[in-house]
Amino acid sequence: MPPPIPTVRLSSDGPLVGAQGLGCMGMSEFYGDTDAGSARQTLDAALSAGVTLFDTADMYGHGDNERFLAPFVRAHRDDVVIATKFGSVRAADGSMSFSNDPAHIRRAVDASLARLGIEVIDLYYMHRRDPAVPLADSVGTLADLVQAGKVRHLGLSEVTGEELREAHAHHPISAVQSEWSLFTRDVERSLVPAAAELGVGVVAYSPLGRGFLTGALPDAFSADDVRSRFPRFTGENARHNTALLHPVTTIAADRDATPAQVALAWLHQRRTVHNVTVVPIPGTRRPNRLNENLAALELTLTADELALLEPIADQVTGDRYPDMAETSNAREI
Ligand SMILES: NC(=O)c1ccc[n+]([C@@H]2O[C@H](COP(=O)([O-])OP(=O)(O)OC[C@H]3O[C@@H](n4cnc5c(N)ncnc54)[C@H](OP(=O)(O)O)[C@@H]3O)[C@@H](O)[C@H]2O)c1
Repeated sequence: MPPPIPTVRLSSDGPLVGAQGLGCMGMSEFYGDTDAGSARQTLDAALSAGVTLFDTADMYGHGDNERFLAPFVRAHRDDVVIATKFGSVRAADGSMSFSNDPAHIRRAVDASLARLGIEVIDLYYMHRRDPAVPLADSVGTLADLVQAGKVRHLGLSEVTGEELREAHAHHPISAVQSEWSLFTRDVERSLVPAAAELGVGVVAYSPLGRGFLTGALPDAFSADDVRSRFPRFTGENARHNTALLHPVTTIAADRDATPAQVALAWLHQRRTVHNVTVVPIPGTRRPNRLNENLAALELTLTADELALLEPIADQVTGDRYPDMAETSNAREI
């Protein structure tokens, strides 16, 4: 068996985690049909390889993703760093709203603890910012949860650099989670510089561009796959963006690697470019892809290869979400 992957600390007082985590969202919904047996094997393979950061949220599968992870987390409680999130509220009709309200946070943490069947959440993220509630109130409530022993470390997702600074002034934030990949580099404008300055770790979500950067996406998505509604995956945008993969696939072929490994290696190398801790959390439900993705930790791209990849993000067409008002971009521009 290969040696376990290296570990990194997300921030000076944050959790120590394997240098690559596992996104568990797709194990319950969003990317079409899922096979629970294969997903369970993926969790076990990840842990054996030294992955410790497992990412979920209360809204994934309307709580089902936390319930699915519960037996695994409980069986390996001391070896797993479980990260979950509150703040995205889904109504029965499928509509989504956001709440950072203290009463909501207190209900949400108890519900996540109950679904996961554990006493304390290792890393608890605010999933989306609700500007109607002052950050001081939400972070103050989260600080109370740390005091009460329900949460170990705090994180924020889809926030601006300014919001991170403000929150961090109220209570240390251990990690920020945002979309970051060769296809999506908006975070480099304000969030990444703020995280670097404050010593906060960046957890890169959708590091494979929701699968786009693997070059292995199907031509059409099923109706239960959210990518069928995401602008950059559909119609003319999809055709245009697929052509942008050329440098990724060329480098992969030259280096006897896969496009997914090139995309993840590029993210790992952001650490030296931005002087910030970066932990990608690629999502997969298949053990073979998990191992393929972990091998990215052994690939170092040359300066020439990095230069070839540099122009990609600026050329991508189509928004990364159907409604950009739900993202940090909306509060940054
Ligand atoms: N904070 C937020 O707002 C937010 C938003 C989105 C996601 N997230 C978190 O970030 C995690 C990762 O993001 P993501 O799942 O959206 O996107 P991703 O990791 O960029 O890509 C996942 C997709 O790529 C496929 N895939 C993975 N490895 C592959 C490989 N080696 N070759 C070919 N295809 C491969 C997966 O399919 P298979 O599963 O079939 O392998 C899946 O369709 C999520 O699981 C979730 O925990 C957070």
